[in-house]
Amino acid sequence: MTNQTTLIIGANSAIAKALALQTIKEDNTQLIVVTRDISFYQHEQFNHSKVISVEDYQESSINTAVQTINEDKTISINQVFICHGLLHNDVIHPEKRLQEFSADSFTQVLTANTITPMLWLKNLVPVLKGKQACKVVVFSARVGSISDNKIGGWYSYRASKAAINMLLKSAAVELSRSAKNIKLISFHPGTTDTPLSKPFQKNVPENKLFTSEFVAKQLLQIVSDNDVDGEASFLDWQGKTIPW
Ligand SMILES: NC(=O)c1ccc[n+]([C@@H]2O[C@H](COP(=O)([O-])OP(=O)(O)OC[C@H]3O[C@@H](n4cnc5c(N)ncnc54)[C@H](OP(=O)(O)O)[C@@H]3O)[C@@H](O)[C@H]2O)c1
Repeated sequence: MTNQTTLIIGANSAIAKALALQTIKEDNTQLIVVTRDISFYQHEQFNHSKVISVEDYQESSINTAVQTINEDKTISINQVFICHGLLHNDVIHPEKRLQEFSADSFTQVLTANTITPMLWLKNLVPVLKGKQACKVVVFSARVGSISDNKIGGWYSYRASKAAINMLLKSAAVELSRSAKNIKLISFHPGTTDTPLSKPFQKNVPENKLFTSEFVAKQLLQIVSDNDVDGEASFLDWQGKTIPW
């Protein structure tokens, strides 16, 4: 029986893939990944992993995926990484000016960055609740810090990350009473070389643009170093606290 299971959601993110590759090297650790595009996980190195494909991130799809995860009663999930993030796509660009703010873009960004992770948390808590310590990492960003916002812009992305931070703070208060084994971590990976940051890497000094492998290694260590304490923590890639 394997008693340590890592669950990675939004597993097609570049950082998620690096987390998955490092996780499968661990002994006695089972990996479960959930994503809309499972092609990366069809390689034989993931033969012992459970790969769950979802069509979309509607709550009904999330609920079905959680039921699939919960079918195997031998697993006990001790860490969860919720990796969703939307900054830009063909039509969405982070706003430089107030006049660029669009209700439709904001709704899409908020859905991907805030509502979707929150629906995972809501549906997973009944499964994660128990005796074994479980750390749940939700990918946020330093730009979601309200007190750190000195340069403005990126209205929708900033607000979606500030909102997920607030939701995690509230959830931690509730879980400290009702699911004391769960620790919530809101994580800022630093600027990492992935499709999400690609158009914005020009002015980033070389030593400040991280590889996904580096960030994944840092994050796994941070998760291991942080105890379950009934609080939500907002941490960067060094494990340092970011002011909310
Ligand atoms: N890269 C950076 O420099 C940087 C900096 C600060 C914070 N972050 C945060 O780190 C996290 C991971 O980023 P990454 O750079 O690894 O991103 P990435 O490679 O672009 O991956 C995108 C991720 O977001 C999910 N996603 C994309 N569109 C979505 C939508 N409309 N609804 C729900 N999920 C959607 C994808 O899910 P599927 O697996 O289903 O495709 C995938 O998990 C994000 O939260 C991002 O905001 C990144």
